[in-house]
Amino acid sequence: MQDKILDFLKKKTGYASGEEIAQRLKVSRQALWKHIQDLRDSGYDITAVPHLGYKLLSAPDRLLPSEITYHLKTKFIGRKIYYFDHINSTMDMAMQLGLKNAPEGTLVLAESQTKGRGRLGRNWFSPKYKGIYLSLILRPKTSPEETPILTLLSAVSICEAIKETTGMEPQIKWPNDILMHNKKLGGILTELNAEMDETLFVVIGIGLNVNNDKKALLEGATSLRQQQKEILSRLELLRGLLKKIEENYLLFQKEGSAPILEKWRNYNLTLNRRVKVISHGRHIEGEAVDIDRGGSLLVRNDSGLTRRVSAGDIVHCR
Ligand code: BTN
Repeated sequence: MQDKILDFLKKKTGYASGEEIAQRLKVSRQALWKHIQDLRDSGYDITAVPHLGYKLLSAPDRLLPSEITYHLKTKFIGRKIYYFDHINSTMDMAMQLGLKNAPEGTLVLAESQTKGRGRLGRNWFSPKYKGIYLSLILRPKTSPEETPILTLLSAVSICEAIKETTGMEPQIKWPNDILMHNKKLGGILTELNAEMDETLFVVIGIGLNVNNDKKALLEGATSLRQQQKEILSRLELLRGLLKKIEENYLLFQKEGSAPILEKWRNYNLTLNRRVKVISHGRHIEGEAVDIDRGGSLLVRNDSGLTRRVSAGDIVHCR
């Protein structure tokens, strides 16, 4: 009912009388008043003027499921949302939901994380109401070896969504860093539940620094706010991101990895550079010459030998 009341108030330009809302939504005046109180408690600024009625003045800066869904233009991504004010890690929750057969596109979202994790056992700093911290369940019909492409697909979607909502053009450092002026804006963590050669489900974890001011950022990190010098709508960005993920995922299902890789190349910062990679305990140094169909990086060393790197930590040398 709260969603319906909000929807009604959002569509109304002026005041809506209690009687009008009650009649249209088939709710008693008393129940309506209680719902309005609850909405105010969640941060909605709703004014009530005698003889005029109610008017929605502003919505809270929260990634509330009802707000996300309001203008969401996706078919299945983010159509089922689990929302938390705080959580250990959205990854753990999404993994549990994946095991319980949560449908493809299920989204786990938190306003803050106490144990947000990054790749290679690192922490992901997740201050409250500043960023976007989400995990998304996908059930691709691909083999486990093909899943790295989903990290690249997510990176492309993040860049496209940022470009469309803010006009800024971030770049991708292989495999999963989203950078702006060489500082980290976001990252992707892909976890997998698979059998021998069958992918059961994949969880894509995305962390994005949006409205962090300087003290809510770690060294070497930046946020969209730091770059643009203004507070941005996390909600709008999130809706855009979910839309881009869905578009790119459908494109991948229809045409394979080629169009995704083509887009990736446009945002990439790694190819044609000298890199140092630590992968599975091995040190590889050389030129990043290309990526293959599965999203692995091809590095040519000084002897002319090309190695394929599917995962690892990378340093750009120049
Ligand atoms: C990285 O750059 O190392 C990846 C960072 C991924 C962070 C996100 S935040 C939402 C989700 N939950 C987590 O615990 N981690 C991912």
